[in-house]
Amino acid sequence: MSPIRIGIIGMGGFAAWHHNTIARLEERGQARLICTCDPQAGSFTLEQQNWRFAERGVAVFGDYKAMLAACHRDLDLLVVPTPINLHAEMHRAGVELGIPVYLEKPPTLDYLELEEMITRDRQARRASLVGFNFIIEKPRLALKQRILGGEFGATQGASLMALWPRPADYFRRNNWAGRLMMDGRVVLDSCMGNALAHFVHNMLFWLGGPEQFSWGEIAGVRAELYRAHAIEGADTFFVEATTAAGATLRLALSHACAGQSQHAETVQCEKAEIRYIVGQQAEIRWRDGRIERLPLEPFDGLHDNHLDYHRYLRGEQSRPATTLADSRPFVVLNDLAHVSSGRIAPFPAALLTGLRDEKEQKDYFNVAGMQRAVEAFITQGAWPGPAGWGRDTGARATPADLPRFHDTVRAMLAAR
Ligand SMILES: NC(=O)c1ccc[n+]([C@@H]2O[C@H](COP(=O)([O-])OP(=O)(O)OC[C@H]3O[C@@H](n4cnc5c(N)ncnc54)[C@H](O)[C@@H]3O)[C@@H](O)[C@H]2O)c1
Repeated sequence: MSPIRIGIIGMGGFAAWHHNTIARLEERGQARLICTCDPQAGSFTLEQQNWRFAERGVAVFGDYKAMLAACHRDLDLLVVPTPINLHAEMHRAGVELGIPVYLEKPPTLDYLELEEMITRDRQARRASLVGFNFIIEKPRLALKQRILGGEFGATQGASLMALWPRPADYFRRNNWAGRLMMDGRVVLDSCMGNALAHFVHNMLFWLGGPEQFSWGEIAGVRAELYRAHAIEGADTFFVEATTAAGATLRLALSHACAGQSQHAETVQCEKAEIRYIVGQQAEIRWRDGRIERLPLEPFDGLHDNHLDYHRYLRGEQSRPATTLADSRPFVVLNDLAHVSSGRIAPFPAALLTGLRDEKEQKDYFNVAGMQRAVEAFITQGAWPGPAGWGRDTGARATPADLPRFHDTVRAMLAAR
């Protein structure tokens, strides 16, 4: 088996994780890094030594176009783990040169740009992979199979709570964090669009059918978006969506919190409730009282997703875990959450406390009553806005409202 020959765009941020992973695969003869680039290549000299680029014969460039012009004939795969607003042009460059693309999630957060990318990808020899981490987890795939097999009865709804504290300097780590737009184009970076996007995509995966690799189609969305941090976008999302199949999905997501990170995916079926906590365990709580526990094995998302995509590139399996078209429900849901919410409301000042973590030397926000609000929303559909967070819930937005998306984002920016 000859190694998959790879080019990686970028060296810092999450691109560094791809470098670490490919270096491991290269040691085992499964991959070979041909080239990489970064406009800041000079500031990664230590990393380049650690990754032993000189010994491995890796060509280093300052610009991705120069890299592709020089190396495209030698590449089986182009990895794109760069700022979200650069994904479309870099994906396009790969496809036009006939190189399959491992594109980091989210592919884009603009539904129109996604449609262009889907059209372009159809012309490619091999479909691009969108790197949502968790779709290929074996217990997840097995549970989806059981849901589709009808063992738990009809799927009625699902919910996701994900409270992942992020300090103020998280939003200063690069020039696009927390931005709604840059250079007149949509960025829309947020907890829903970026760090928690994996989980939201997982929820749509639970609600998809009848095939294994299927995602629920969005019919309508209501939302309340908030911000605590000094950013353009939202750091807290309360979202309720209905799917075309009639299931209700509730999401309560925030970076405006302190303490331990928490997340839980729950699927409500006629005969059982499935609770899946990435990195911990899955549980099936049968309505007749039985509880089935499924321990989750340690899972190296990036390593396993690379190998999974490589198998597809070698012709050993029929499709990548998530294609650009599979990402459509996620992008539509995210865009309609903005359309429905209409504005990003500041939290009432009386509820907001700044917290200094002296050990980490970092500053967090905490919103009084966040945990209670999340539980009331997830379990009863009680919206926090009218109940004390000082805003109305957005009106229902449907895919027919997507043409209002760009104006909504511009209005959110103007109101900032
Ligand atoms: N799968 C995951 O678990 C996971 C985790 C974190 C981030 N991500 C995703 O990875 C992507 C990158 O996020 P990040 O926070 O690392 O971003 P980042 O801003 O840190 O950028 C990553 C790299 O891209 C480089 N870069 C920027 N402009 C470039 C250009 N014009 N040409 C070449 N390289 C360029 C940067 O210098 C940096 O090295 C995003 O899509 C993000 O959502 C995925």
